[in-house]
Amino acid sequence: MALDEWVQREARPISLRQLTFFGRTLTEPRLIDSANYCRLEIPTRIAHRLRDIQTLPYVVVANPHLAHVYELYHRAFERFRRIKEIRTLDDNDHYCKLLEETLKEHASVIPQLAIGMLEVQGLMKPEQTDRFMNTMLKSRISRRVIAEQHLALTETFHAPWHFPNAQSAQDTEAVGEIFLRCNAKEIVERCGNTTQELIRQAYGSHVAIPEIRINGHLDATFPYILSHLEYIIGELLRNSIQAVIELRQWKDAQPPPIDVLICETPQHVIIRISDQGGGIPTEILPHLWSFSKGPRRQTRIENLGKVPKLLGTLQELKVGDKSPSEGQGPKDGFSNAGGHPVHHSSLASLTSRPPNLRLGIGLPMSRIYAEYWAGSLEMHNLEGFGVDAFLQISKLGNKNERLTTRAMMDA
Ligand code: COI
Repeated sequence: MALDEWVQREARPISLRQLTFFGRTLTEPRLIDSANYCRLEIPTRIAHRLRDIQTLPYVVVANPHLAHVYELYHRAFERFRRIKEIRTLDDNDHYCKLLEETLKEHASVIPQLAIGMLEVQGLMKPEQTDRFMNTMLKSRISRRVIAEQHLALTETFHAPWHFPNAQSAQDTEAVGEIFLRCNAKEIVERCGNTTQELIRQAYGSHVAIPEIRINGHLDATFPYILSHLEYIIGELLRNSIQAVIELRQWKDAQPPPIDVLICETPQHVIIRISDQGGGIPTEILPHLWSFSKGPRRQTRIENLGKVPKLLGTLQELKVGDKSPSEGQGPKDGFSNAGGHPVHHSSLASLTSRPPNLRLGIGLPMSRIYAEYWAGSLEMHNLEGFGVDAFLQISKLGNKNERLTTRAMMDA
C-alpha cells in the first residue's frame, strides 16, 4: 500500500538558516531544488500523521470533525504523492497551484481538530489526546512552513522587481516568509497596538486599557517567521490585557501596565511579559496547556465553530452535527505584513479574532509554535497578583524544526 511506503521515509528536518539558504541566491536550479524538497517532504509528513490517526481508537476517529480532517489529509496525500519530479518552471507553476489550493482547503484544520478533541473527551486519556494534538499541529506547522516558503520563493523568482534586494540577499529584510532581522521591541510594540485596539473595540472606549512598557535589550534582533511570532506575542498580550481589565479593580484610575522585558543572550532572546491581572484562576491552572480538558467546554466548542467563518473563506462549522461543512468561498487574498506578501491568512485571522471569542487553545498553540523553532514558553503564576510569561527564542536560526513534542519525549 502506498501509505506504508511513505511511512517508511523519515522527515528531513530543516532550520531557518537552511530555509533562507534556498532563497538567498535565487536561481532557477535552486527554485527547482526547493520544489523537489517539498514534493517529497509534504507527502512523507502527511503519511506519518495519517498513520497516527489510523491508530486512534475507532470511536475517536468516528468523530465527524476528526473524520473530516482524516479525509482532507488523505486526499492531499493522494494528490501529492503522485507528483513526478519537477524539472521545469512550468512543472513548478502547476505544483504551486496545487499547494495553494491545498493550503486553502486546510485552513480550518485547527478548529476542526480542536473541536474533535473536546468532543472525544473521555474516550482517550487527556495526556494521549494532548500528545496527539501536539504532534498533529507541529506537523501541520512544518508542512505549511515548507509550502509557504516555496510559494514565496517562486513568487520572488517570477517578480523580483517587487523585492528589489531579494536576489542579492546580504541586506535583504526577508527571504521568502522569513524575516532576517525581527526586532523584538518593534514586534511587541506592533502586536501591543493591535491587541489594545481589538480590546478597545470589544470592551468600548470607556474602559481603560493598560499601557505596555518595554524595557531591556531594545535592539535584539533574530531571524524568524513573523506570523509565528505575532501569533505568540498577540496571544500573551491579549491574555494579560484581558486579565487586567477583567479584574475591574481600577474604577476610573489607570490600570497597572503590562511590563515587557527583553533579554538578549549569545544564543537566545527571552521576552518576559508581566501583568498584574490577578493570576491564573484555579479552575484553569491545571489545564493551562491542555487541548482537551478545562472549563467552559461547550462555549469553546461553539466559539471554535465560528473560526472558519472568521478565516473569510469558509462557512461556520456545524458543531454537534454529523457533517461539518466545507467552505467554497472566495479566494484567500494576500495579507500584508511589513510590506511583504504573506500567503494564507489562517494564523493572522486567529491573531485578529475578537477578544471575546475565547477558544481555549491560545496558550497550548503558542507553546507549540515556540517549541517548533527550538524555543520555549513558560508561565509563572503569582497567585492573586498576576502572571509572568517567559518566551525564549533561539536567536541564531541554526536549530532544526522540532517535530516531536515534549510529551512524546517524556513518554
Ligand atoms: C496543512 O495545512 O495541514 C497542510 O498539510 C498543507 C500542505 C499539504 C500544503
